[in-house]
Amino acid sequence: MKSLPFLIAATIALVSATPPGIPPLSTAQTALSSLPIRKTTTTSTPGYDRALFPHWKTHSGPCNTREYVLVRDGTNVLTNATTCGATAGTWLSPYDNKTWTRVSDVDIDHMVPLSNAWASGADTWSTKQREGFANDVEGPQLWVVTDNVNQAKGDKSPDLWRPEVEGFWCVYAKSWVAVKRKWALSVTEAEKSALEGMMGGCREGGGGNGTTEGGGAVGSGAGRGLMGPGWGMLVSVWFVLHLGEVLG
Ligand SMILES: *[C@@H]1O[C@H](CO)[C@@H](O)[C@H](O)[C@H]1NC(C)=O
Ligand SMILES: *[C@@H]1O[C@H](CO)[C@@H](O)[C@H](O)[C@H]1NC(C)=O
Ligand SMILES: *[C@@H]1O[C@H](CO)[C@@H](O)[C@H](O)[C@H]1NC(C)=O
Repeated sequence: MKSLPFLIAATIALVSATPPGIPPLSTAQTALSSLPIRKTTTTSTPGYDRALFPHWKTHSGPCNTREYVLVRDGTNVLTNATTCGATAGTWLSPYDNKTWTRVSDVDIDHMVPLSNAWASGADTWSTKQREGFANDVEGPQLWVVTDNVNQAKGDKSPDLWRPEVEGFWCVYAKSWVAVKRKWALSVTEAEKSALEGMMGGCREGGGGNGTTEGGGAVGSGAGRGLMGPGWGMLVSVWFVLHLGEVLG
Protein backbone atom coordinates (compact mmCIF):
# COMPACT_ATOMS: atom_id res chain seq x y z
CA MET A 1 0.00 0.00 0.00
CA LYS A 2 2.67 2.49 -0.85
CA SER A 3 0.70 3.91 -3.73
CA LEU A 4 -1.23 6.47 -1.70
CA PRO A 5 1.62 8.87 -0.88
CA PHE A 6 2.75 8.80 -4.48
CA LEU A 7 -0.73 9.47 -5.73
CA ILE A 8 -1.04 12.38 -3.33
CA ALA A 9 2.34 13.79 -4.36
CA ALA A 10 1.43 13.56 -8.02
CA THR A 11 -1.95 15.16 -7.45
CA ILE A 12 -0.56 18.05 -5.42
CA ALA A 13 2.12 18.67 -8.02
CA LEU A 14 -0.40 18.78 -10.83
CA VAL A 15 -2.70 21.32 -9.24
CA SER A 16 -0.17 24.14 -8.96
CA ALA A 17 -2.65 26.93 -8.90
CA THR A 18 -3.55 30.39 -9.97
CA PRO A 19 -5.84 32.41 -7.69
CA PRO A 20 -9.53 31.55 -7.93
CA GLY A 21 -12.27 33.58 -9.55
CA ILE A 22 -10.61 34.65 -12.80
CA PRO A 23 -13.64 35.27 -14.99
CA PRO A 24 -14.15 34.30 -18.61
CA LEU A 25 -13.41 37.11 -21.08
CA SER A 26 -17.04 37.97 -21.81
CA THR A 27 -17.82 38.23 -18.09
CA ALA A 28 -14.85 40.52 -17.55
CA GLN A 29 -15.78 42.72 -20.51
CA THR A 30 -19.34 43.11 -19.25
CA ALA A 31 -18.07 43.85 -15.76
CA LEU A 32 -15.65 46.49 -17.04
CA SER A 33 -18.38 48.28 -18.94
CA SER A 34 -20.45 48.46 -15.75
CA LEU A 35 -17.75 49.88 -13.48
CA PRO A 36 -18.29 53.48 -12.39
CA ILE A 37 -15.92 55.97 -13.99
CA ARG A 38 -13.99 58.23 -11.69
CA LYS A 39 -12.98 61.58 -13.10
CA THR A 40 -9.52 62.44 -11.95
CA THR A 41 -6.35 63.75 -13.45
CA THR A 42 -4.11 62.88 -10.56
CA THR A 43 -2.87 59.60 -9.21
CA SER A 44 -2.45 60.87 -5.68
CA THR A 45 -4.62 59.42 -2.95
CA PRO A 46 -5.16 61.92 -0.14
CA GLY A 47 -5.66 60.34 3.26
CA TYR A 48 -4.33 56.94 2.25
CA ASP A 49 -2.40 54.94 4.77
CA ARG A 50 -1.41 51.31 4.31
CA ALA A 51 -2.32 50.67 7.94
CA LEU A 52 -5.96 51.38 7.06
CA PHE A 53 -5.96 47.97 5.31
CA PRO A 54 -4.92 45.50 8.05
CA HIS A 55 -2.96 42.55 6.68
CA TRP A 56 -2.01 39.83 6.93
CA LYS A 57 -4.80 38.46 9.03
CA THR A 58 -4.95 34.97 10.45
CA HIS A 59 -6.26 32.53 7.90
CA SER A 60 -6.35 29.35 9.97
CA GLY A 61 -4.31 27.83 12.76
CA PRO A 62 -0.90 29.52 12.89
CA CYS A 63 -1.17 30.54 9.23
CA ASN A 64 -1.90 34.05 8.01
CA THR A 65 -3.20 35.02 4.58
CA ARG A 66 0.28 35.45 3.13
CA GLU A 67 1.36 32.00 4.25
CA TYR A 68 -1.86 30.49 2.94
CA VAL A 69 -1.34 32.06 -0.51
CA LEU A 70 2.27 30.85 -0.68
CA VAL A 71 1.03 27.29 -0.18
CA ARG A 72 -1.97 27.73 -2.46
CA ASP A 73 -0.03 29.06 -5.42
CA GLY A 74 3.32 27.37 -4.96
CA THR A 75 4.45 23.91 -5.93
CA ASN A 76 5.59 21.36 -3.33
CA VAL A 77 5.58 23.95 -0.58
CA LEU A 78 6.68 22.72 2.84
CA THR A 79 5.92 24.74 5.94
CA ASN A 80 7.02 24.82 9.55
CA ALA A 81 4.07 23.37 11.45
CA THR A 82 4.60 25.75 14.36
CA THR A 83 5.11 29.05 12.54
CA CYS A 84 3.54 28.18 9.18
CA GLY A 85 6.51 29.81 7.42
CA ALA A 86 7.43 28.19 4.10
CA THR A 87 10.66 26.22 4.40
CA ALA A 88 10.75 24.93 0.83
CA GLY A 89 8.81 25.26 -2.39
CA THR A 90 8.78 26.59 -5.93
CA TRP A 91 6.97 29.71 -7.05
CA LEU A 92 6.45 30.89 -10.62
CA SER A 93 5.92 34.62 -10.87
CA PRO A 94 3.54 35.03 -13.81
CA TYR A 95 4.29 38.74 -14.26
CA ASP A 96 7.88 38.07 -15.33
CA ASN A 97 7.92 34.29 -15.81
CA LYS A 98 10.61 33.78 -13.20
CA THR A 99 10.75 30.74 -10.94
CA TRP A 100 11.95 31.03 -7.34
CA THR A 101 12.78 28.48 -4.70
CA ARG A 102 13.48 30.89 -1.84
CA VAL A 103 10.44 32.44 -0.28
CA SER A 104 12.43 35.62 0.36
CA ASP A 105 12.50 36.23 -3.40
CA VAL A 106 8.73 36.53 -3.72
CA ASP A 107 6.07 38.94 -2.49
CA ILE A 108 2.32 38.67 -2.38
CA ASP A 109 1.05 41.33 -4.77
CA HIS A 110 -2.35 42.92 -4.32
CA MET A 111 -3.64 42.83 -7.90
CA VAL A 112 -5.59 46.02 -7.22
CA PRO A 113 -3.17 47.91 -4.97
CA LEU A 114 -4.43 49.14 -1.62
CA SER A 115 -3.95 52.82 -2.45
CA ASN A 116 -5.72 52.36 -5.78
CA ALA A 117 -8.62 50.80 -3.89
CA TRP A 118 -8.58 53.74 -1.49
CA ALA A 119 -8.80 56.19 -4.39
CA SER A 120 -11.53 54.20 -6.10
CA GLY A 121 -13.99 53.73 -3.25
CA ALA A 122 -12.41 52.04 -0.24
CA ASP A 123 -12.00 55.39 1.50
CA THR A 124 -15.66 55.12 2.51
CA TRP A 125 -15.38 51.56 3.84
CA SER A 126 -15.03 50.34 7.39
CA THR A 127 -11.66 49.02 8.51
CA LYS A 128 -13.21 45.56 8.58
CA GLN A 129 -14.13 45.83 4.89
CA ARG A 130 -10.67 47.04 4.05
CA GLU A 131 -9.21 44.10 5.91
CA GLY A 132 -11.44 41.81 3.85
CA PHE A 133 -10.15 43.42 0.67
CA ALA A 134 -6.48 43.24 1.66
CA ASN A 135 -6.84 39.55 2.60
CA ASP A 136 -9.23 38.43 -0.16
CA VAL A 137 -8.32 34.84 -1.02
CA GLU A 138 -11.60 34.14 -2.82
CA GLY A 139 -11.01 36.43 -5.78
CA PRO A 140 -7.96 36.89 -8.02
CA GLN A 141 -6.55 39.61 -5.77
CA LEU A 142 -3.43 38.01 -4.23
CA TRP A 143 -0.58 36.86 -6.50
CA VAL A 144 2.82 35.41 -5.68
CA VAL A 145 5.30 37.41 -7.73
CA THR A 146 8.99 38.33 -7.85
CA ASP A 147 9.61 40.84 -5.06
CA ASN A 148 11.29 43.40 -7.34
CA VAL A 149 8.41 43.24 -9.77
CA ASN A 150 5.93 43.86 -6.99
CA GLN A 151 7.95 46.91 -6.00
CA ALA A 152 8.15 48.14 -9.61
CA LYS A 153 4.38 47.87 -9.92
CA GLY A 154 3.87 49.73 -6.67
CA ASP A 155 0.40 51.28 -6.67
CA LYS A 156 0.21 51.70 -10.43
CA SER A 157 -2.93 50.89 -12.42
CA PRO A 158 -2.72 49.18 -15.85
CA ASP A 159 -2.49 52.49 -17.72
CA LEU A 160 0.80 53.10 -15.89
CA TRP A 161 2.23 49.62 -15.40
CA ARG A 162 1.76 46.22 -17.03
CA PRO A 163 3.63 42.97 -16.47
CA GLU A 164 6.50 42.33 -18.85
CA VAL A 165 5.04 38.99 -19.97
CA GLU A 166 2.53 40.13 -22.58
CA GLY A 167 1.06 36.64 -22.71
CA PHE A 168 -0.21 37.29 -19.20
CA TRP A 169 -1.99 40.58 -19.92
CA CYS A 170 -5.30 38.87 -20.61
CA VAL A 171 -5.39 37.13 -17.23
CA TYR A 172 -4.03 40.24 -15.55
CA ALA A 173 -6.74 42.49 -16.94
CA LYS A 174 -9.54 40.00 -16.26
CA SER A 175 -8.33 39.61 -12.69
CA TRP A 176 -8.04 43.37 -12.16
CA VAL A 177 -11.58 43.87 -13.43
CA ALA A 178 -12.94 40.97 -11.35
CA VAL A 179 -11.53 42.52 -8.18
CA LYS A 180 -12.87 45.98 -9.03
CA ARG A 181 -16.29 44.53 -9.77
CA LYS A 182 -16.45 42.35 -6.67
CA TRP A 183 -15.55 45.28 -4.43
CA ALA A 184 -17.59 47.85 -6.39
CA LEU A 185 -14.59 50.06 -7.09
CA SER A 186 -14.36 52.68 -9.80
CA VAL A 187 -11.92 53.04 -12.69
CA THR A 188 -10.49 56.08 -14.44
CA GLU A 189 -10.94 56.52 -18.20
CA ALA A 190 -7.25 55.83 -18.74
CA GLU A 191 -7.40 52.69 -16.62
CA LYS A 192 -10.51 51.49 -18.45
CA SER A 193 -9.05 51.91 -21.91
CA ALA A 194 -5.81 50.21 -20.82
CA LEU A 195 -7.86 47.26 -19.58
CA GLU A 196 -9.89 47.14 -22.81
CA GLY A 197 -6.66 47.09 -24.77
CA MET A 198 -5.20 44.29 -22.69
CA MET A 199 -8.36 42.22 -23.00
CA GLY A 200 -8.38 42.91 -26.72
CA GLY A 201 -5.36 40.64 -26.82
CA CYS A 202 -7.19 37.73 -25.19
CA ARG A 203 -7.49 34.74 -27.44
CA GLU A 204 -10.31 32.90 -25.86
CA GLY A 205 -13.05 30.91 -27.45
CA GLY A 206 -16.03 29.06 -26.08
CA GLY A 207 -16.26 31.07 -22.89
CA GLY A 208 -13.22 29.43 -21.30
CA ASN A 209 -11.59 31.08 -18.33
CA GLY A 210 -8.18 31.15 -19.86
CA THR A 211 -6.85 29.44 -16.78
CA THR A 212 -7.24 25.83 -17.78
CA GLU A 213 -4.40 23.82 -19.13
CA GLY A 214 -4.42 23.06 -22.83
CA GLY A 215 -6.41 26.18 -23.59
CA GLY A 216 -3.65 26.71 -26.09
CA ALA A 217 -4.00 30.46 -26.11
CA VAL A 218 -0.91 32.55 -25.62
CA GLY A 219 -3.06 35.47 -24.59
CA SER A 220 -4.56 33.54 -21.75
CA GLY A 221 -1.54 31.69 -20.43
CA ALA A 222 -1.86 31.80 -16.68
CA GLY A 223 0.63 30.53 -14.15
CA ARG A 224 0.30 26.89 -14.86
CA GLY A 225 0.61 27.37 -18.62
CA LEU A 226 3.92 29.11 -18.09
CA MET A 227 5.18 26.52 -15.70
CA GLY A 228 7.32 24.54 -18.09
CA PRO A 229 9.05 21.45 -16.79
CA GLY A 230 8.94 22.38 -13.13
CA TRP A 231 8.74 20.15 -10.12
CA GLY A 232 5.14 19.28 -10.84
CA MET A 233 6.14 17.98 -14.22
CA LEU A 234 9.12 16.06 -12.86
CA VAL A 235 7.06 14.41 -10.17
CA SER A 236 4.36 13.56 -12.69
CA VAL A 237 6.86 12.05 -15.12
CA TRP A 238 8.46 10.10 -12.30
CA PHE A 239 5.04 8.91 -11.24
CA VAL A 240 4.14 7.70 -14.72
CA LEU A 241 7.51 5.96 -15.15
CA HIS A 242 7.13 4.19 -11.81
CA LEU A 243 3.45 3.47 -12.10
CA GLY A 244 4.06 -0.26 -12.26
CA GLU A 245 6.12 -0.32 -9.08
CA VAL A 246 3.79 1.99 -7.25
CA LEU A 247 0.71 -0.04 -8.02
CA GLY A 248 2.59 -3.33 -7.59
C1 LIG B 1 -14.47 29.61 -14.74
O1 LIG B 1 -15.05 30.79 -14.19
C2 LIG B 1 -16.31 30.55 -13.62
C3 LIG B 1 -16.88 31.89 -13.19
O2 LIG B 1 -15.95 32.63 -12.46
C4 LIG B 1 -16.14 29.57 -12.43
O3 LIG B 1 -17.39 29.31 -11.87
C5 LIG B 1 -15.52 28.29 -12.93
O4 LIG B 1 -15.26 27.44 -11.85
C6 LIG B 1 -14.23 28.58 -13.67
N1 LIG B 1 -13.70 27.35 -14.24
C7 LIG B 1 -12.43 27.02 -14.14
C8 LIG B 1 -12.05 25.75 -14.79
O5 LIG B 1 -11.61 27.70 -13.54
C1 LIG C 1 9.89 25.83 13.27
O1 LIG C 1 10.02 27.13 13.79
C2 LIG C 1 10.41 27.14 15.16
C3 LIG C 1 10.31 28.57 15.67
O2 LIG C 1 11.03 29.45 14.82
C4 LIG C 1 11.81 26.56 15.24
O3 LIG C 1 12.24 26.58 16.58
C5 LIG C 1 11.78 25.15 14.69
O4 LIG C 1 13.09 24.63 14.67
C6 LIG C 1 11.22 25.11 13.30
N1 LIG C 1 11.05 23.72 12.89
C7 LIG C 1 11.55 23.26 11.76
C8 LIG C 1 11.26 21.84 11.45
O5 LIG C 1 12.21 23.96 10.99
C1 LIG D 1 9.05 31.20 -19.43
O1 LIG D 1 10.35 30.73 -19.12
C2 LIG D 1 10.62 29.44 -19.62
C3 LIG D 1 12.02 29.03 -19.18
O2 LIG D 1 12.20 29.31 -17.83
C4 LIG D 1 10.52 29.44 -21.15
O3 LIG D 1 10.70 28.12 -21.61
C5 LIG D 1 9.14 29.95 -21.55
O4 LIG D 1 9.07 30.05 -22.95
C6 LIG D 1 8.87 31.28 -20.94
N1 LIG D 1 7.50 31.70 -21.25
C7 LIG D 1 7.18 32.95 -21.55
C8 LIG D 1 5.75 33.21 -21.85
O5 LIG D 1 8.01 33.86 -21.57
